[in-house]
Amino acid sequence: MPYRLSKPLRFDLDSAAVKADPFPLFAAMRAAGPVIPVKLPIIGKAWVTTTYEAAAAMVKDNALFVQESRHAGKSGVAGMKWWMPVSLRVLTNNMLLKDEPDHRRLRKLVDQAFQRRRVRDMRGNIERIADKILDGLEGRAEGDLVGGFSRRLPLEVICELLGLPDQERGQFLTWARTATSMRNSFGILRAFLSMGSGIKFVRGQIEECRRNPREGLISELVRAEEDGDKLNENELVSMVFLLLFAGFETTTHLIGDSIIALEQNPVQKAYLFTDPASRMERAVEELGRYTSPVQSTKPRYVSRDCEFFGQRLGRGELIMAMLASANYDPAVFDEPDRLQLDRFPNPHLVFGSGIHFCLGMQLARVETQAALGRLYARFPRLQLAEPDRLQWIERFGLRGVKALPVRLKAAAARRAA
Ligand code: HEM
Repeated sequence: MPYRLSKPLRFDLDSAAVKADPFPLFAAMRAAGPVIPVKLPIIGKAWVTTTYEAAAAMVKDNALFVQESRHAGKSGVAGMKWWMPVSLRVLTNNMLLKDEPDHRRLRKLVDQAFQRRRVRDMRGNIERIADKILDGLEGRAEGDLVGGFSRRLPLEVICELLGLPDQERGQFLTWARTATSMRNSFGILRAFLSMGSGIKFVRGQIEECRRNPREGLISELVRAEEDGDKLNENELVSMVFLLLFAGFETTTHLIGDSIIALEQNPVQKAYLFTDPASRMERAVEELGRYTSPVQSTKPRYVSRDCEFFGQRLGRGELIMAMLASANYDPAVFDEPDRLQLDRFPNPHLVFGSGIHFCLGMQLARVETQAALGRLYARFPRLQLAEPDRLQWIERFGLRGVKALPVRLKAAAARRAA
């Protein structure tokens, strides 16, 4: 049935109850149609895709659905409002918010660092980092696996990749936590202030790398900027910020949500840990699909009036692909609300698709495999301390918990070699 964007349908996309059990909500959205209008916090009225087919078609058509407003006869940045401070506009110079050819130029500069082989070589190091963090939980009866583990691992890994010195990492963690706390207008204000100091922090790191080049991606990017026309200063700041930002909360929640899913599905958990070496890769794909921690893409602009899956979309309107809903679509996944760690094939859209598919996909996979592998090797009898009182974050687009209290129970087992 045809809808109008001015009359959005009501779906509660960010309540804790929906985060705890998202399957009924997305089933109801798919029943309303493959492309429907909704009203979203901060972003406002936007079309969203609900089915797998519509989501895949949307993200793959980067001519019809664009990131840069000027390609759709608008000004501003999709999802960013006029009232957002000018000082933060520097952050919009990143690949995720650019169309071709700028997107390709920016992505090419960092593509190699995130390629499968380079990331696989990092596995041993990532396991060592996981073990070092888990040392902090050793000997304790209880602990919080978000604050004490799943937040810290992705942060340490990306800091290592970028070449951020140890003493700077605590500071980054503090402002990143505030910057990701946007839920209401007070949260937005705090987030802006925090992002402002984040930009200053990144600029400081870049200056430091100019004076004293060091190992890591920031120094490599500084060299690319100094080489000439490949990257300008604002793009450099925005790139470092994006890399810090895009891989931090996303991976935190994939790890945390996966632990919850395993604890809630003991038979599947036992299956995985009977032979983790051969089952972990496939299991993490399914945990990604089942938990879908990044529930939607960023908004795109419709570049021209068109008909898309039975709806008339107007030039300049916003549209996003609801990835979680695509990942639960029974037209593609058998019994989508059942965790099946040996599911194969598993063509999920956890990391998006099309030209903006996740740059850090391999890294996120290896981090999650290493995190679950080391956590359960050292605390095999781990249990959720408050399984009925999980504190889901009430924010559109992400699915994760604020804290994950667990009983660690078992004595620490052997460390990784
Ligand atoms: C579980 C972890 C992660 C998930 C679920 C995830 C998901 C996604 C998704 C869905 C997109 C596409 C967004 C869109 O089309 O609007 C994306 C893009 C991106 N991700 Fe990730 N991501 C994760 C981890 C990471 C990590 C670890 C990094 C890097 C350190 C990273 C860097 C990026 C970048 C740079 C883009 C933009 C790519 C482009 O525009 O070409 N992500 N991610």
